[in-house]
Amino acid sequence: MRVKDKIVVLTGAASGIGRATAILFAKEGAIQVLSDIDESGLKETYKALGSAKERTTIIKLDVRNSDEVRNMIDSTIDKYGKIDVLIVNAGVVRVGPVETFPDDDYDLLIDVNLKGTHHTCKFAVPYFKKQRFGTIITLASVAAHIGQVAHANYCSTKAGVLGYTRALALDLAPYNIRVNSVSPGATDTPMLQSDVAKQARDRGVDYDAVKKEFEEEGVIGRWAKAEEIATGILFLATDDSSYMTGADLRLDGGWTTK
Ligand SMILES: NC(=O)c1ccc[n+]([C@@H]2O[C@H](COP(=O)([O-])OP(=O)(O)OC[C@H]3O[C@@H](n4cnc5c(N)ncnc54)[C@H](O)[C@@H]3O)[C@@H](O)[C@H]2O)c1
Repeated sequence: MRVKDKIVVLTGAASGIGRATAILFAKEGAIQVLSDIDESGLKETYKALGSAKERTTIIKLDVRNSDEVRNMIDSTIDKYGKIDVLIVNAGVVRVGPVETFPDDDYDLLIDVNLKGTHHTCKFAVPYFKKQRFGTIITLASVAAHIGQVAHANYCSTKAGVLGYTRALALDLAPYNIRVNSVSPGATDTPMLQSDVAKQARDRGVDYDAVKKEFEEEGVIGRWAKAEEIATGILFLATDDSSYMTGADLRLDGGWTTK
């Protein structure tokens, strides 16, 4: 077991990559604190953990709310005395041309993807500095590295996550804390499915036509399974990646190599 008895805090655990990560880390022996704004999805994830449920706490929270995030971090420390792995995964996507992009959607992207990432790290960092071990993993995206049609606002938040991760890695290196990001390509989750559906509606084309475009972005020619991103997150959580910090792991099926 690769993370046996490690204390793992994971946001966005109710769906997609977060759920697949929670299931993988449970199999690998972690003790987990899983959170999400979607309580029923979180309960579904919890159910999928089998006997690892005993080693799991679930917390409904909104990463936009700094008090709720602080409570999650503080209660984890109260219960376990440390955090070994912090996985900052909660995120949202909204797509559309900039000239008609609703202000509410832009605020949501900034508040969840950027501020939510910051809140989650902010309250954990003092504990990490004190304990002088641990690793932080953020979720950037292929969208942090390249432009995507109708994704200007989403791309800007994910490029921000990349910058945040690199800079935080410098701040925490003297404390023996590694900070890295993962950049998934097109990954088959409710987020990508809703993104493709919206683009299909906006352009008046079939869902499958837009799906095919996404599949052809990478050289592997298909969407990733969420489990294929979770294995990358596990790699960054263990000493297998002990010489990596401030780095980004691109799990994009070759999208950015073209
Ligand atoms: N699916 C992809 O193709 C893809 C590609 C690149 C990056 N990503 C990133 O990976 C991460 C996970 O995405 P996913 O594809 O699994 O999406 P998803 O929609 O399946 O899961 C995201 C989870 O975040 C939660 N969440 C959203 N807003 C929240 C909030 N305010 N507070 C707490 N939780 C909140 C959702 O409820 C959901 O459970 C995101 O950061 C996303 O940007 C996904």
